[in-house]
Amino acid sequence: MISFTVHPSPQLHGTLRVPGDKSISHRAIMLGAIAEGTTQVHGFLEGEDTLATLAVFQAMGVAIEGPRQGQVTIHGVGLQGLKPPAAPLYLGNSGTSIRLLTGLLAGQSFAVEMHGDASLSRRPMRRVTAPLAQMGACIQTTEAGTPPLKIIGTQPLMGIHYPLPVASAQVKSCLLLAGLYAKGTTCVVEPAPTRDHTERMLTGFGYSIQQEGQQVCLQGGGKLRAMTIDVPADLSSAAFFIVGATIANNSQVLLQHVGINPTRTGVIDILRLMGAKITFQNQRDIGGEPVADILVQSSSLHGIEIPRELVPLAIDEFPILFIAAACAKGKTVLTGAEELRVKESDRIQVMADGLQAVGIDAQPTPDGMIIHGGQLAGGTVKSHGDHRIAMAFTMAALRATDTIMIEDCANVATSFPNFVQLAQQAGINLYQQESKA
Ligand code: S3P
Repeated sequence: MISFTVHPSPQLHGTLRVPGDKSISHRAIMLGAIAEGTTQVHGFLEGEDTLATLAVFQAMGVAIEGPRQGQVTIHGVGLQGLKPPAAPLYLGNSGTSIRLLTGLLAGQSFAVEMHGDASLSRRPMRRVTAPLAQMGACIQTTEAGTPPLKIIGTQPLMGIHYPLPVASAQVKSCLLLAGLYAKGTTCVVEPAPTRDHTERMLTGFGYSIQQEGQQVCLQGGGKLRAMTIDVPADLSSAAFFIVGATIANNSQVLLQHVGINPTRTGVIDILRLMGAKITFQNQRDIGGEPVADILVQSSSLHGIEIPRELVPLAIDEFPILFIAAACAKGKTVLTGAEELRVKESDRIQVMADGLQAVGIDAQPTPDGMIIHGGQLAGGTVKSHGDHRIAMAFTMAALRATDTIMIEDCANVATSFPNFVQLAQQAGINLYQQESKA
C-alpha cells in the first residue's frame, strides 16, 4: 500500500518533460507487433499499463527489445504471425489494453483469455463485445459483462457499419483493429470526436483508411509496414503540472515536447475558458502527431459551465480539472460526463468525496458535478487505486492550508512512474509512504 502525504506547497516551477503518451505507446506496440519489419519506438511510456501490453505480445511470440530509456524495438510478425499464448493474458489496470486487444484478438486462429486487477474486473466490456459479436466474434464475459474475457478466434470476421452509442476511442480502435482481420469494410461512426491516434498511426504504418466527417472505414486483409515512432510526452500527465502552475501563486512551468493532438486538448480549452494563461511554443509535427512546449503561468480562475462538446476531448483530465474548479472563483458545472463513472474508479463519486474531505462544496450529479470554488483545507482522501485521483489531489497542496493524506497511490505507476520525483523537483512537498496492505 503506497500513500502520499502532501504538505502545503507555495509554488511550482521548472522545465519538465513528463513521460510518453500512454495511448500512443499502447498503439505503437500493438501495430508494431502485427506489422511486417522492425518498428523502432522512441519515448515509449515505461508505465505498468503499457508494459502490460508489451508483455502480452511477447507472450504471443513477438520479439521485443527494451524498453531501455524509452527505446523499444519490435520485430513485427505480420497480421497472421501471432502465436497462441501459453497462459491467460494479464492486463493489470489497463482498460485500453484489454479493449483494444479484444478487437485485435477476435480474428486470430487461436483462443485466449484475458483478465485484470480488481478495477479492470469491474469495467464494462459489452461496449466492445456486442459490436464484435455482430462481426462474428466469439467472446465470453462474466454475466455482468466484465472481464475475464474468453475469446475463441474466428476467421474471418465480417466487416460491419457501426454507429458508436458512446463517444469512445477505445471502442472505435477495438473495431478498427478487428476490421484489419475482417472480410470487407468496417466502418465506425462516432457521436462526437474522440482521440484519433489509431487512425493516425494506421496511416503511418501505410494502411489505407477512409475518413469522412465522423465516420472512419477500413478494408480487411491489408498489410502494415514497420515504421519509426517518436512518442510525445503525454498531455494527460502534463495536465497535473499545467493545473498546478495555474492555481499556485507566482509560478511558471514549461512542459517540453507535449502531444497537442486536437482530439486531446479539451483540458487546455476548458482551462483557458476559466482564465488560465497557457501558451504553446515551438509547435511542430512529429511523425503525424502535433507537438509543442507548453508554457503555463499562475492565473486567477473563475468557474464556468463546461461545454459538453469538450467532454470527450478532456475525458481523462476531469480529476485535475475538478481541482482547478475547486480553486476557481464561483461555480463550475460539468454535465454530459457519465463516462467518468466507469473509468479506473467512479471519478464523479470519488472526486466529490475527496473534495468534500478537504472542505470544498462539491455535489456529484448522475453525469457530472457542481463545484463551488473555495478554500482547500487539509484532510484524508481515498484515491480508490485510481492514478489520476492520486495525482490530482497531490496538486491540491499548492492551495491547501494544511496537509493532505492520499491513500492507495500505487497505481500512479500505471501512467506516470516518475511522478513523485518530478512533483518534488517542481516544488511540491510530497512524501511517499509504503505500508503492508
Ligand atoms: C483511451 C481512450 C479513453 C481514455 C483512456 C485511453 C485510448 O477511453 O479514457 O484513458 O487510448 O483509446 P474511452 O475511449 O473509453 O473514453
